[in-house]
Amino acid sequence: MATVLAIETSCDETGVAIVKNRKVCSNVVASQIAVHQPYGGVVPEIASRQHLEAINILIDQALDQAHLTWTDIDGIAATCAPGLVGALLIGITAAKTLAIVHQKPFLGVHHLEGHIYATYLTQTDLQPPFLCLLVSGGHTSLIRVLDCGKYETLGQTRDDAAGEAFDKVARLLNLGYPGGPIIDKLAKDGNSQAFPLPEGKISLAEGGYHPYDSSFSGLKTAVLRLVQKLEPSPELPVNDIAASFQQTVVNSLTKRAIACALDYGLKTIAVGGGVAANSGLRQHLQEAASPHNIQVLFPPLKFCTDNAAMIACAACDHLNRGHSSSLTLGAASRLKI
Ligand code: KG4
Ligand code: ZN
Repeated sequence: MATVLAIETSCDETGVAIVKNRKVCSNVVASQIAVHQPYGGVVPEIASRQHLEAINILIDQALDQAHLTWTDIDGIAATCAPGLVGALLIGITAAKTLAIVHQKPFLGVHHLEGHIYATYLTQTDLQPPFLCLLVSGGHTSLIRVLDCGKYETLGQTRDDAAGEAFDKVARLLNLGYPGGPIIDKLAKDGNSQAFPLPEGKISLAEGGYHPYDSSFSGLKTAVLRLVQKLEPSPELPVNDIAASFQQTVVNSLTKRAIACALDYGLKTIAVGGGVAANSGLRQHLQEAASPHNIQVLFPPLKFCTDNAAMIACAACDHLNRGHSSSLTLGAASRLKI
């Protein structure tokens, strides 16, 4: 029964959490969104500096909120990849230093493994095998989860990630950053059938389309063309554009996830990553899966976007199996799960 303190600094949220196996003892996050907002996206140098300023305060807060001291902690973990290297290094260096000072094992955790483990935080009895639909700002993947540390990527995006598409479309509509939550909100008052948009498909050399891989860059360009066509009119129908775009992304993700679960005989789809917070996806995937007797699990919103509780949860499982990482482990901007 391991208790792990974990640090997440892969992008623009500084997170520290303490998790005892699958029970969250504390989970604190300092969001940098307001700092990056004027730039319309994350500025890597600013992200690193913000992590550095927040990290020690958050570590103290996490211990205080959990009513624990260092003697109660069995291991110290940090996200090691993928992400912004400068940002990751702040978390890894803090975790390694604490591991040396307090003589505890250090664990480097893959960020996507963390998103997979987010589901376990509330579904504590969930057992592999299951399918994870991982939809974030950097990834759109269908991953078969076989065991702790055993993952098979069955589908992925060939260009933009789903969250990236939300952010880019929001930018071209001048809606602000991050785009996902803004588009989600606007879409609620829009007509999703107003503008038919193309769902990106990956052609296969032998004919037909790849059943699980996706593409969102063509959709983003189609929204740009639509905006250019509508622009002379005094007011853009932003709600209808947001709703039509969101529905196209949701249809694409739903179709692929269900086809993959059926083909591999998997009865559970666990959704993870920031786009798992999308209300359209939460409703549509659930409705589409139920006639096939496929269970769909969404983490609570706070565990969909980046947080350290999911990293700590994955690290607990590894520590319970006797795994730990070398103190020479570095950060990597890209790394296959
Ligand atoms: O998992 P995450 O916090 O960070 C990465 O690992 O990338 O995901 C962030 C992404 C952003 O692209 C953001 O726009 C998107 O998740 N996102 C959403 C929603 N909330 C966050 N996309 C659609 N609908 C939402 N409600
Ligand atoms: Zn993430």
